[in-house]
Amino acid sequence: MSSYQIDTPKKYDDSYKKSVNCPETFWDELASQNFIWNKKWSKVIDWDFKKAKVSWFKDAKLNITTNCIDRHAKNTPDKTAIIFEPNDPSEKNKLFTYSELLKEVCKMANVLKSMDVKKGDRVCIYLPMIPELAFSVLACARIGAIHSVVFAGFSSQALATRIDDCKSSLIITSDGSYRGKKILNLKAIVDDALDICETQQKVLLIKRTNELVNLVDKRDFFLEDLIANVDDSCEAEIMDAEDPLFILYTSGSTGKPKGMVHTCGGYMVYTSYTFKNIFQYEEDDVYWCTADIGWITGHSYILYGPLSNGASTIMFEGVPSYPDFSRFWQIIDKYKVNQFYTAPTAIRALAKQGIGFFKNCSLKSLKVLGTVGEPINEEAWQWYNLHVGKDSCPIVDTWWQTETGGILISSIPKVIPDKPTFATKPFIGVQPILLDDEGEELNKPNSVGKLCIKYPWPSIARTIWGNHQRYIDTYFSAFKNMYFTGDGAFKDKEGNFRITGRVDDVIIVSGHNLGTAPIEDAINEHESIVESAIVGFPHEIKGNALYGFITLKYNLENINHIKTEINSLISEKIGPIAKLDKIQITTGLPKTRSGKIMRRILRKIASNQTEDLGDISTLLNPDVVQEIIDNYQI
Ligand code: WTA
Repeated sequence: MSSYQIDTPKKYDDSYKKSVNCPETFWDELASQNFIWNKKWSKVIDWDFKKAKVSWFKDAKLNITTNCIDRHAKNTPDKTAIIFEPNDPSEKNKLFTYSELLKEVCKMANVLKSMDVKKGDRVCIYLPMIPELAFSVLACARIGAIHSVVFAGFSSQALATRIDDCKSSLIITSDGSYRGKKILNLKAIVDDALDICETQQKVLLIKRTNELVNLVDKRDFFLEDLIANVDDSCEAEIMDAEDPLFILYTSGSTGKPKGMVHTCGGYMVYTSYTFKNIFQYEEDDVYWCTADIGWITGHSYILYGPLSNGASTIMFEGVPSYPDFSRFWQIIDKYKVNQFYTAPTAIRALAKQGIGFFKNCSLKSLKVLGTVGEPINEEAWQWYNLHVGKDSCPIVDTWWQTETGGILISSIPKVIPDKPTFATKPFIGVQPILLDDEGEELNKPNSVGKLCIKYPWPSIARTIWGNHQRYIDTYFSAFKNMYFTGDGAFKDKEGNFRITGRVDDVIIVSGHNLGTAPIEDAINEHESIVESAIVGFPHEIKGNALYGFITLKYNLENINHIKTEINSLISEKIGPIAKLDKIQITTGLPKTRSGKIMRRILRKIASNQTEDLGDISTLLNPDVVQEIIDNYQI
């Protein structure tokens, strides 16, 4: 376990240096000593950023579930693996030990086999945060099927696009889901998706809300009927380190979502290593990440990272506001949570509720706090530190992406000090660099530039499902021999990084990545709309919110009506998370002479910063700018 635990600044410095100077040796030792492999690798790292080709632990064989479950089921069978906390606190929770988890996952794996799912097949998972979601994900990994989890807030059309893109053969869903006071009929959404998608699916249906569902003969099967007949052991499929483990879709700057592909070996090593150290997880700790498993944070830091370390990890089905805004604090006290990992948007929403909700909650068990998903502003950071951490828990502000698989930049408790609004230092093996627009390295202190990574780390995505060229174009073409993150960053004189935000057409709303292009595509389908431009503007709770500038084909009497229709279109095509906060109807959009919409100007107007719009005289239609400013939506 020599280099596995980073618990002093010296260990960090030594390991970091070794990981940069002798990466092959460093990762060879780390991976051999801390994981179970069926066969060792022939080469640790093989890479060529020009072709966007990366492989780790070439020719090695393993199964990630052996590492996440079996070894702990053997060594610590009675230790709690997963704690399920239901939406409603009056419903009984469920705890699964490692030996129980093994059985549940094996049963689910056998159900999948009985439905003809084979190694390499894609399985789409569209579920609320119930234990069966974890079992399904891990069961796929057990038999070598590639899981594609789709966040259960996406609409039927968004789901259909994702099913068709990866051509899954099975979708796992539930009758419904509970979110606070609301019940959502997930099966109906799946039915709609299957009506429009081209790929034929079988449906595995889990009962959660017990409402009536429509059943299609020979297509839809209840889990409870199938699981009664299967064995509770299932041998783990032996996978190549570079076999795909999962696909997870993320927004891009064109209409189609990008199916990021992660592979078995490198992803396992890196998520495990980062989890252990960034959260300083100790043997009897209880860890809670509030994300949904529909996002990368849930994949890496609710399931794979914690489980590979034999941790106890909480899955929370509900929302922070139900039954009231003390729910998070109640859960922390109930389970004596030691590490708590959430999003800045949740922190801001909770801060707004005042500190009355901390009444009767001690939060004494907390040792480490974390944030992820978007930059955290100073005020939210201070509130989190004072009221949740009681000024005695380090805060790890973890910067990473769906594409990176695991955390790349973060402080480490007792090792790298935190600094409000800074993600701080690169993790072991990560080599970030700031570049200017010409691709020149900015190495003076206090520089701001585009954040790139110049060397591969084990959990970097390997490709975009079905479109490697898009992978090259999006991440490896902007700068020579670099992975370009799409984020801007500032580096202070101590070498701490602060992420300044996206520099492309992706907007982070409440921690969710939203591409402007898919939203505009959805809106432009409206028969009365000529074109639209979506930009972000600062929002007190969501971080950013969406502002839509819309031009119509003809003057309409009832503009409010069209605004409602725009948001329903977005909900239908993408999901409610992409709804616009403000909509302004304009007679035109500012354009360059070549016809490109000048989003820079629209962004300033939407943020109500119209003093410095730059030179607008070269626009095709400069007059429209004043009109837009005059009609700005407060
Ligand atoms: C943003 C989430 C600032 C960033 C794990 C990144 C952050 C995008 C942070 C990826 C952070 C994530 N500070 N910004 N700590 N963490 N981001 O793919 O813009 O959902 O590129 O992955 O979120 O979002 P994704």
